Order: sequence, then C-alpha cells, then structure tokens
Amino acid sequence: MSNELASFKKDISQKFTAVFKQNATFISVAPGRINVIGEHTDYNLGLSMPAAINRWVIIAFAFREDNLIKISSESFNNQMEYTPGKPFTPTESWMKYIFGALEIFQRTDKITKGFNAYIWGNVPLGSGVSSSAAIEVAMMGLLRKAFSASFDDVTLVKNCQKIEHEFLGVKSGLLDQYASQLSKAGKLMALDFQSMTHRYFDAEIGEYAWVLVNTKVKRELAGSKFSERVDETQIAFKEIASKNSAVKHFRDITLKDVELVSDSVLKNRIKHFVLEDQRVFDTADAFKNNDLKKVGELLLESHYSLKNDYEVSCPELDFLVEKSKTFDGFLGGRMMGGGFGGCTINLIKKAKIEEFKTFILPAYKSQFNIDGEVYAFDMVDGANVEKV
Ligand code: GLA
Repeated sequence: MSNELASFKKDISQKFTAVFKQNATFISVAPGRINVIGEHTDYNLGLSMPAAINRWVIIAFAFREDNLIKISSESFNNQMEYTPGKPFTPTESWMKYIFGALEIFQRTDKITKGFNAYIWGNVPLGSGVSSSAAIEVAMMGLLRKAFSASFDDVTLVKNCQKIEHEFLGVKSGLLDQYASQLSKAGKLMALDFQSMTHRYFDAEIGEYAWVLVNTKVKRELAGSKFSERVDETQIAFKEIASKNSAVKHFRDITLKDVELVSDSVLKNRIKHFVLEDQRVFDTADAFKNNDLKKVGELLLESHYSLKNDYEVSCPELDFLVEKSKTFDGFLGGRMMGGGFGGCTINLIKKAKIEEFKTFILPAYKSQFNIDGEVYAFDMVDGANVEKV
C-alpha cells in the first residue's frame, strides 16, 4: 500500500474516533478511475481499457449497540441517519448512493446491527473519474465484509450499477464500478463486458505520462443525455437485428450493418460503438508494439468519434483537445468518461508536464474564464476492506 493511502486511512480513522467516540473496526477504500479508450461501449457490452488512480473514497466503520445507522460525510459536511425498515428520503445526492447501497444489499443479505460510518474522499466530483462509483463500491464492499455476505466481486459491481439505475436514474454500464473494484497497481485492464472478463497488462509508456485536464464543467443534462444515448443505440441495434439475423449482440455489428440503420443520427451512434470497440483492439496492439504514436492517434480518433458521431463532448473539452494538439510533447488525447464536461485524458511527455500546465491552463482560462486543473496520478489497486 502506498504511504499516501496509509496516511489517509490513519487520518480518517482518527476523525471517525473524534466524531463517534469509538475506534473504527473496518476501513473500506475504493479508488476513482481513468479510461484510456473504449468510451460509451460498456452498456452495450463492448470493450474498455481502464485503470484505478490514486484518488479514493475511504469509509471508516464500527458497529453500534442499537440498530441505527449513522453516517457522517466530511466531504459533504453533513450526516444521515437511517434505520433499516423505516422510511428514508435522501436529501442530498451522496445520500442516494449510500441509501441505494443499503437498500440493494438488503435484497440478498441482512443488516443485523446498526453502525457508525465516516466518509471521506479526494476523487474530484463530477469530473468523469467515477467519484460516484467509488462511493458505491466502498460502501457495498464494506457491507459485504461487515455482515459476512458471500457474493463475489462481479455481483458486487453489478449491485453498485443497480444503485445508479434505480436510485440515480442513470442507465450507466459497469465500467466505473468494475475498474474501481478490480484494478491492479501499475496495470491497465482490458475489459470485455460481454464475457464479463478482464486481463491486466503492462502498458509501458516510457518517457510519457497520462495526464488529466479537468474542465471543471459539470452539466445537469449529462444524466438525461446519457440515457438518451443508451436508448438510441438500442433502437439502432433492433433495426439492424431485424434486417440481419446474424446480428445477435452489439459485438456482431459490422460497418456494413451500420448502413442498415435508416436514421442518420442513430447510424452515427452505432458507428461510434463499432469503431470504438475496434480502437480498443488497435490500442492494445499498439501497446504491444510499443507504438505510442499510434496510441495517441487512436485517442484523437476516439475523441472525434465521441464529439461528432456520439455527440457527448462539449466546447470546453473540444477546446482542450485542440489546444493540446499544438503542444510539443503531446501524443494524443480525448474526452474521458460520460462527457458533457469532466476531464480530458492525454499522453504527454513526462518531463514536460509542468510546461503543459502553464500552457493549457491560462489558455483555457482566457477562453472560458474557468480555472481548470491538471492532474498526473499513479495507477493503483482496486477496492479493499481491511479489518482494523
Ligand atoms: C460513465 C458511465 C460508464 C460509462 C462511461 C462512458 O462513466 O458510468 O458506465 O458508460 O460513462 O464510457
């Protein structure tokens, strides 16, 4: 475990003790994630290439003597109280994640005792690095361990997805939760959502680094636009399947099949899926051949596909990509995550990260009057719950 994480855990345990006047007995940790490529493919059972990063949600926990559940959130500066079986209406969005986790957990397992919990996080919120998945995974993992439930990691990940679907109303896929739960330090994950399997690989980037630029933009419509894309691709899929009986899954669709879609917008949506999936294969090959220039080109292709065909980018993300392209030391980049704001992910020469910061941030500020942020990070292990 990194020193950084160890010191955060110690700090959160101490804060737990200060608030609840008892010592924590479990500490649950779940990271945020990046995704190198394979965007908006997961909910249609495509491919992605994520890794967890050293930004975490940490929850300290101890049982109570009664059946009350008391949860204090440092990041959101408030507290919730919940008694299993009694009505509860979450008043803030962080409570929806927690309440969702408690409710979903109780569909298969029992919360036999009350508990206190203290939540902290440094995953940037609403930035496309899965702060919400980190909360869900940290909470679900904690409940699994504390109440000795026996479901496996894939079930855990799927339980967390149910929180998004049922309690947040977003039809998201499994990318975020899967990466948060199952990542491995220093590795990228090649993730196949059809077979629900993954493999880890070293994606050596030598004198380069992955660097995020945060637009600091979070649009309210992102959730509804997200669900709109899910619906659109389903409609296009059904039309293709009705015209070509060989197509049983999204992954069977070829570029020729894309032409079977009569509506031009829906055709573009499906085209993105087919080409983005291919780009995941191509990126894996490029890594194998140590061809980082090719990786960079694929990132840019992915961006233009998300911008023009899938239409989930925004002016701020597009500006960052275009501006970064003019930086000497940039190999490629693209919008990352759900879109409509959040971060770009970029392949930048390590020695030039500071220079990149002073290049991109003032340009962004003068264009949009927003203070963006640049992050370099480490790739870390997925979620973990420790008995203290
Ligand atoms: C969000 C969703 C994921 C995935 C990405 C886009 O992060 O939660 O399931 O669809 O967007 O790739």
